[in-house]
Amino acid sequence: MESDMVKVRVPASSANLGPGFDCIGVALNLYTEISMGFTKEGLFIEVYGEGASDIEKDENNLVFKAAKKVWEEIGADFKGLKIEIHNGIPLGSGLGSSAAAIVGGMVAANELAGGILSQEEILNLAASMEGHADNVAPALNGGLNITVFDGKTVYYIKKELEEELKFIAFTPKKILKTEIARKVLPEKIDFKDAVFNTGRSSLLVAALFSDRYDLLKIASQDMLHQKYRSKLIPEMYSCFDKALEAGAYSVFLSGAGPTIMAIASIDNAKKVAKEVATVYERDNIDYKIYELRCENNGAQVIKASLPI
Ligand code: HSE
Repeated sequence: MESDMVKVRVPASSANLGPGFDCIGVALNLYTEISMGFTKEGLFIEVYGEGASDIEKDENNLVFKAAKKVWEEIGADFKGLKIEIHNGIPLGSGLGSSAAAIVGGMVAANELAGGILSQEEILNLAASMEGHADNVAPALNGGLNITVFDGKTVYYIKKELEEELKFIAFTPKKILKTEIARKVLPEKIDFKDAVFNTGRSSLLVAALFSDRYDLLKIASQDMLHQKYRSKLIPEMYSCFDKALEAGAYSVFLSGAGPTIMAIASIDNAKKVAKEVATVYERDNIDYKIYELRCENNGAQVIKASLPI
């Protein structure tokens, strides 16, 4: 990394948490690091880590596209750009890799431009680019975020979660693009399914805001998206059963999947991980387990630009 580049660290995130489709998300302690600096001409992008060979290194790169949005917004221009990405978030896994790229690109671009946009303005811009705020809000703010995005503005409340609460991610090696996982969803849903989710989603927020983890099992149930997506993730219900049998507080599809996320106490995390792993072994699915916690800090500039 060259001396006049800025460096931003952005956390992964898990969206939906069961019933909070497109609204609820939590930041996790898995990161992507993005360095960015102006050059005299051209675009140079280097990528290391997760998905390095699959990430575009030209104008189609998401970090670059997000940075450009910031400069368009503030009327700034650039001659040349260098971007270096060290990515620790698996791509297409339901752990918010796209949101981290968007947020990281925007925060870095804003820092290079002298920090003109506020955090709220970056959030609105990031949500507009992603289409919903359930990943971009926790990626930017850290913690648990309850969001509503009306197409222009993100309205949200952030809650920090305690470190002892473990988020165990079971991530198959296969990539599932969000657009594919959204295509299997119905255009209309039953009134009773809407009522089911309204209750669960409300209880989920109340339970997480009052540390009532005993309620998470019921509060994480969902009728809006998981059952439809299970066609793409056949191991899903077996994983759910194993996690709950092992004493997890709750278990759900992380974002659009295919990662399955279990929440467990620090004492029970190893048992939950071991039991759910038997499903992947049984079905011969190549997978990885991440034992995570809520990251209460959002995107951070860890190397600032020189004053301009
Ligand atoms: N809420 C989104 C979904 C998350 O479930 O499709 C993925 O971006």
